[in-house]
Formats: sequence, structure tokens, C-alpha cells
Amino acid sequence: MEAKEISQAVIGRLPRYFRYLGELKDEGVERISSQELSGLMKVTASQIRQDFNNFGGFGQQGYGYNVEYLYREIGKILGLDKQHNFVIIGAGNLGRALGNYLNFERRGFIFKGMFDANPELVGKDVRGVKVMPMEQLESFIRENDIDIAVLTIPKTSAVEVADKLVANGIRAIWNFAHVDLNVPEGIQVENVHLSDSLMKLSYNINRYSSDIK
Ligand code: NAI
Repeated sequence: MEAKEISQAVIGRLPRYFRYLGELKDEGVERISSQELSGLMKVTASQIRQDFNNFGGFGQQGYGYNVEYLYREIGKILGLDKQHNFVIIGAGNLGRALGNYLNFERRGFIFKGMFDANPELVGKDVRGVKVMPMEQLESFIRENDIDIAVLTIPKTSAVEVADKLVANGIRAIWNFAHVDLNVPEGIQVENVHLSDSLMKLSYNINRYSSDIK
């Protein structure tokens, strides 16, 4: 279904719906009302209905939502019905942890290659993928239908590496380097800063402690 322009706030909530619906589906739940989903997810039922209305509703009056159907449709909206090949650049602690995470494959994200500038890491095995030298990056991307590059290198080299990726046809960058990348329009960048989430937690700890004083 080709929908109207959907706000990033709605898109940002879809993975969570998808996760909850996947769990319900695995538990054998066939249908669910917006009220029940609201109780599970701690999101108001009207928010859920509004979000789903962006895509044509999915629900039936008096029946609720068909879990399997909704799960599949949200998956399609998120592009999870297609395979996305990815490479990881930077075979350090973070890069290896991501490479070792099996669940990405379940969602259609296939770990194809890993690269590092340190010759001592070249040839090391991360879940069946051998670390390659940076000299092979460009040809590998072009020849292996790679959509996504995961950047787990220091910020000092991230901009230069991102330019190379873009020049060789990468479509999206999952950027863990602490630097903003300036990429041409049409290239998708998702910045991840785990410490942002930790700082939010810190704020909430502080707020809670001052509330109970
Ligand atoms: P690490 O030092 O274990 O690994 C970095 C790897 O990048 C090393 O193997 C190094 O040889 C490689 N490297 C450096 N320059 C390169 C280049 N130009 N091309 C290819 N490979 C290169 O560091 P760690 O812990 O894995 O973190 C990686 C980066 O991610 C760091 O810059 C860190 O600041 C950042 N980071 C970001 C987080 C986030 O939430 N955004 C969380 C943790 C780390």
C-alpha cells in the first residue's frame, strides 16, 4: 500500500508495534483490539488507531486487528519483507558485537562482510565472515549488492569512509561513529548514540530521586 507521507514520529513507533505483534503471533494470538494492545504497550488506544489509520486502518469494527496480517503489513511498510545485505566497517568491540548478533538475519538483514584498517584483524572470523582489508571495501560493495554499511570506526575517519561508501553505491549508513555525516540526498543515515539513552536514564533517575525526597 503506497501511503501518504508518514511522519517520522509514526515511523519511529512502528518497530515497537512490529515487535509486540511478533510476540503475540508467536504466542498464537489471532486478533487483538486497540484497547488490549494499548494495555500491553502502554500507548493510548487512540494513538494506536491514529497510527494505524496512516496506513489505511487494518482493523475491523468490533473485531479488532488480525495479528498476523497487521504484523505482515507493518513489516512490509518497514521494508522487512525484503533482504538487505550489510557490511560492518570497524572490527573492534562494537563491530564484532553487532556482527555476532544473530537476530538481524531474522529481520532480513544479512551480514555479508566486515572490514578493518588494522592488518592484524584481517582474516579473523566473526560468525563465519572473515575480516577484510579496507582496500577491498569498494569492489566488495559494488559486487555483492550491499545496501547498508554499519560504521563502527572512530569519528576521525568516519567522514572519509562514508564518502567512499556513497561513491560506490551504498544506500544507507547505520552510523555509530560520533560524528554527523554529510551525505547526498537519497542516502539514508541513522545515527545511533547509546549514551543518549543512558543520559535519558540518568535524567529519570535524578528526577525520581528528587520526587521522593
Ligand atoms: P574499537 O577501538 O574496539 O574498534 C574500532 C575499530 O575500528 C578498530 O578495530 C580499528 O582498527 C578500526 N578502524 C579505525 N580506523 C579505521 C578506518 N579508517 N577504517 C577501518 N577501520 C578502522 O572501538 P569500539 O569500542 O568498537 O568503538 C568503535 C567506535 O564506535 C568508536 O569510535 C566509539 O567511539 C564508537 N562507539 C559508539 C557508540 C554509540 O552508541 N554510537 C557506542 C560505542 C562505541
